[in-house]
Amino acid sequence: MLTGKHILLGITGGIAAYKSAILIRLLIKEGAEVRVVMTEAAKQFITPLTIATLSKNPILVEFFNPENGEWNSHVNLGLWADAYIIAPATANSIGKMASGIADNLLLTTYLSAKCPVFIAPSMDLDMYRHPANQNNLEILQSYGNSIIDAETGELASGLEGKGRMAEPERIIEYLNSYFDAPFLGKHVLITAGPTYEKIDPVRFIGNYSSGKMGYAIAETLAQQGADVVLITGPTHLSVSHPNIRRVNVASANEMYEECIRLFPSCDIAVMCAAVADFTPENPEENKIKQKTELTINLSKTKDIAAALGQMKQDRILVGFALETCDELDNAYAKLQSKNLDFIILNSLNDAGAGFGANTNKITIIDRNGTKTFFDLKPKKDVAKDIVTYLYGKINDA
Ligand code: C5P
Repeated sequence: MLTGKHILLGITGGIAAYKSAILIRLLIKEGAEVRVVMTEAAKQFITPLTIATLSKNPILVEFFNPENGEWNSHVNLGLWADAYIIAPATANSIGKMASGIADNLLLTTYLSAKCPVFIAPSMDLDMYRHPANQNNLEILQSYGNSIIDAETGELASGLEGKGRMAEPERIIEYLNSYFDAPFLGKHVLITAGPTYEKIDPVRFIGNYSSGKMGYAIAETLAQQGADVVLITGPTHLSVSHPNIRRVNVASANEMYEECIRLFPSCDIAVMCAAVADFTPENPEENKIKQKTELTINLSKTKDIAAALGQMKQDRILVGFALETCDELDNAYAKLQSKNLDFIILNSLNDAGAGFGANTNKITIIDRNGTKTFFDLKPKKDVAKDIVTYLYGKINDA
């Protein structure tokens, strides 16, 4: 519930502005107090009268009232708000926010807001995926703003694709999980990505792990209040949430050292990284020259999850298993050998699951052998399922 929360809603000029009316009704139903700031263009899509009536407050558009000179202070609005939601956020407004342009009240309020900002983009599919827009969204994320991702489906243009504003119900869910913050005060260690095992100064043994699953879990936990330390192998991903501290490592041994150092101050660890099992015994100092034959001796790396399993006491330890055969049995054996509380199995036999993909299909196996099966979903939604399961574990403990 959002009882008593001050929600500032910014409406920009996109066709999805009609959904703002529903969003306001839902916010009020949740017990929130709502004030609305609109751009001039937004008034073409939905009337101020509708919005003012639903929000029970006059809407704000101008910097001041031209009739009597009364000042609409963007600073005060920003201070009043517990959250500022910009929905719909057009490509134009997103671009202006990303570059600090302040030519209307919605934007000056954005620049001076101290509260968390949630941005729900809404535009046609080609505008949405244009690198300019994608870069702007990344910039806004890097400033700590939360992007409530656009949905895929039919668009106002008649085209099908990604760009529809998130449904008001989803925006409410997002806010609720933010304000509930069930992981507030919890310290979580997450490993993600591949490791690079050095052969010589320019070559390594690596794997195809993209890091997407681990980063999505980090993001979800941070949004739910956790303090996250993300120990990551080399990836192309960036982290945006202010609650995530990123520690970059390359090799399995570096990851091991950081995990051992940081685990004692954590309550939970999620081992998502695809750690190399073997590493070159004696990496060459100089680049290996062309030759007809080459033998590289490998030695076993340390099993990080198993080491944390020895140290864990009453901490919660979660592992992953990527299997290609006898999946359930192999995963359960891993859970036991590493002393995990639960293990998340993904099978390479499931289309759309595993490395690199944006989707995943998981089964969670618990210490007592209970299995929970999930459908194929985007990794962001899989992360939510995992975090919900984890929340259940904390409450059991
Ligand atoms: O590679 P394997 O399938 O055994 O990995 C299972 C789990 O153990 C994963 O959670 C992985 O992150 C973790 N692991 C680890 N250190 C290793 C190998 C695997 O933490 N050296």
